[in-house]
Amino acid sequence: MSGVAKDLEVEHHSIDERLAEFIAGLDEGEVRPEVFRASARELQHHIYVEEVHLFPPLRAAGMIPPVLVMLREHGEIWGVLDAVERLLAEDHPDIASLRQECGRLAALLEAHNLKEEQILYPAADESLATEDLEQVSISLVDGELPQGWRAEMAAA
Ligand SMILES: [Fe+2]
Ligand SMILES: [Fe+2]
Repeated sequence: MSGVAKDLEVEHHSIDERLAEFIAGLDEGEVRPEVFRASARELQHHIYVEEVHLFPPLRAAGMIPPVLVMLREHGEIWGVLDAVERLLAEDHPDIASLRQECGRLAALLEAHNLKEEQILYPAADESLATEDLEQVSISLVDGELPQGWRAEMAAA
């Protein structure tokens, strides 16, 4: 596994852990928006790195259908992040609704991340040029999400 595949996988776990922490809070009747937002920010930046820096060279290497599936799933995941943010913006966020959306998010991420870790990341390791992999590493470390950027297939 290259540094990039490993780093992306490590980030999946970090995002999952923060989301699990937020869900555990909900189960205790506690809403901690800052915990959710830390997870969401990391996830949105992760999606940005994949869509802007990882998927184009993978597509060029012939991985067109799997990349399309990942883009669709990113769109769906982004929609759930928006839904949670809308719930959090209410005066008294409804815990049951938050719990339901976050459960959905966790399930989507589990299936999505497994496919990336088993199919997409190993393919990247095998077929991407060193400079393409370096570009992914650089943007991962940089951590900046351009203002207003949204996943390609997220609803407007
Ligand atoms: Fe992804
Ligand atoms: Fe990923």
